[in-house]
Amino acid sequence: MKIVKYSPGQFKAAYRICKMGMELDKITEDLLKQKIDDDPDFAPDLTLLAYSDSNKPVGFIMGVVRKRGKEKTGYVKLLAVLKEHRRKGIATALYSQVEQEMKSRGVKLVRVYESYPNYFMPGVDPFYTEAVCFFERNGFVKFNDCANLKADLVHQDFNTSKEERKLRQHGITVSRAGKKDFQPMLNWIRRHFAAWEWEIRAAFENKPVSLHIAKKDGRIIAFSAHETNNKGTGWFGPMGTGKAARGKGIGGILLKRCLNDLKKAGFKSSVIPWVGPIPFYMHYVNSKVERVFWRYEKKLS
Ligand SMILES: CC(C)(COP(=O)(O)OP(=O)(O)OC[C@H]1O[C@@H](n2cnc3c(N)ncnc32)[C@H](O)[C@@H]1OP(=O)(O)O)[C@@H](O)C(=O)NCCC(=O)NCCS
Repeated sequence: MKIVKYSPGQFKAAYRICKMGMELDKITEDLLKQKIDDDPDFAPDLTLLAYSDSNKPVGFIMGVVRKRGKEKTGYVKLLAVLKEHRRKGIATALYSQVEQEMKSRGVKLVRVYESYPNYFMPGVDPFYTEAVCFFERNGFVKFNDCANLKADLVHQDFNTSKEERKLRQHGITVSRAGKKDFQPMLNWIRRHFAAWEWEIRAAFENKPVSLHIAKKDGRIIAFSAHETNNKGTGWFGPMGTGKAARGKGIGGILLKRCLNDLKKAGFKSSVIPWVGPIPFYMHYVNSKVERVFWRYEKKLS
């Protein structure tokens, strides 16, 4: 077996391994490009391909290191080995090299898949039972779980004009964000939900802007966005309401506005990822748990 650093010429090989190897997912070429090319922290030292002795690409790993406050966190962002080449130590060899490189960069903590803001899935789907075995064998510990919900877009009506009229009586307006909202939105997100800045920027790059804002007296108090990660899959989020504005039904309106956009764009369902407040989403849009993820981490010494 030979391990080489990923370069764009190997995209097709990486795609084939991810497509065949991650059999519970539907990864498209476009999606993999978003994960590799659009990642601001892409590093060839952490993105590796394994070749078999007959020189066939059989394993792929993508790691990234992100700054989180003063610390650096490492992520195994993607990992797959072709079925017929499993249990031969290929993933171990790929991960070991990535972990070594992460250590040399001062990483103290590694997590699996949940490399927000640009991530594929928010953890390990335990139906990839080999992955559960693999990460536990390699010293990872499960610390939490989360779910992706699925909201049906075909049989639901997301018209919010009545609710919005009521809010207007209290001086609250809801609208799609425009260019002039970009800087105020960035300022607001930095104060309230700093981790989501990248996704906010991504929403403003979409045409039309895939972000809706609630304002009171001209000031932002809440927002919701979609198509900011895993574009082309009906991915919802993030959304957030400032503490003082909670409990007034604003979040429900904003959520429905985004789902309405996705419906109009032709999506039949939406993914509400990495949840979070399941009852909130079930209440407004009857969304159900579609997938569950176990979150793993490993402290590096
Ligand atoms: C998870 C995956 C990458 C492991 O690849 P691999 O090359 O087969 O892994 P390794 O051979 O290096 O396995 C290392 C250890 O993991 C554990 N492990 C891996 N597969 C296992 C299995 N089928 N049953 C039990 N333990 C397993 C074992 O402890 C193994 O060591 P051992 O063979 O000495 O007992 C591979 O199964 C895969 O591609 N799965 C589908 C995609 C996926 O799940 N990706 C991660 C999503 S979060």
